[in-house]
Amino acid sequence: MKKVTLHNGLAMPMLGLGVWKMEHEEAVQSVKTAVQLGYRAIDTAAIYKNEAGVGQGIKECGIPREELFITTKVWNDDLGYEETLAAFEESLKKLQLDYLDLYLIHWPVAGKYKDAWRALEKLYKEKRVRAIGVCNFHQHHLENVMADAEIMPMINQIECHPLLSQHELREYCASHNIQVEAWSPLGQGTLLEHPVLEEIAETHNKSVAQVILRWDIQNNIITIPKSIKAHRIQENGEIFDFELSANEMARINALNKNERVGSNPEKYDV
Ligand SMILES: NC(=O)c1ccc[n+]([C@@H]2O[C@H](COP(=O)([O-])OP(=O)(O)OC[C@H]3O[C@@H](n4cnc5c(N)ncnc54)[C@H](OP(=O)(O)O)[C@@H]3O)[C@@H](O)[C@H]2O)c1
Repeated sequence: MKKVTLHNGLAMPMLGLGVWKMEHEEAVQSVKTAVQLGYRAIDTAAIYKNEAGVGQGIKECGIPREELFITTKVWNDDLGYEETLAAFEESLKKLQLDYLDLYLIHWPVAGKYKDAWRALEKLYKEKRVRAIGVCNFHQHHLENVMADAEIMPMINQIECHPLLSQHELREYCASHNIQVEAWSPLGQGTLLEHPVLEEIAETHNKSVAQVILRWDIQNNIITIPKSIKAHRIQENGEIFDFELSANEMARINALNKNERVGSNPEKYDV
């Protein structure tokens, strides 16, 4: 599994399993399947209401906990210093873990995320979590949080795929040593019949999903596709045995339309 080193020296897998919309049992089974197929990272969130399922999957997967990289996120209702500390304990309990690898602020709710960041800094300093970061932060949110931060965010997890390539935000993050991670990398499944991607996929005898995920890796973007189907979890993992050419990367980069499948952080209605 290819890894990237975060600015605090922690190595994080470039590919993980997303588990949004999975029911309890789906989460248990998908986590076990993914780990058996070589995945080492899982991305959940308090709001997904499947942390207990993820925790059970981790317990039953047969791989030592230290070899796994587990991410969860604090939900909007729990943003605040004390609230976030309490939410962290609740998530750990559900996951049956005694530390997290990565804890993220889920959305930049105005007026709330800076207090939550102080809580994440405390958890990090106390070694309850090995890395801390944010999701859905635009440049101005990052500037705002970093203005008073003691510890800079290690990750910004954002919607990113060929129709929303986030070029400027990725450049900004790179210049501040913030690693970008893509959510909805497959556009929630809507990108899989794109003719340009289909043509490139055919050249490599790969699927469109594999081409998109490979595009992430070659752009140094961590990617976390979700699937509950074993054959797709396997397919999404088989992206380290081929390479897109510079011309193919440019063709995919040119597909950007700034088109979202999820909420715009600026307009997010909490
Ligand atoms: N931080 C945030 O605000 C945020 C927001 C959204 C998502 N996320 C994270 O990002 C993860 C991924 O995003 P996502 O779940 O929204 O969407 P996604 O990974 O882009 O797409 C998932 C959809 O594509 C299908 N799929 C997966 N692999 C496929 C393949 N190889 N061929 C055909 N179809 C395939 C899945 O169906 P099946 O399951 O039926 O295979 C599912 O319907 C989430 O699970 C979550 O962990 C974070």
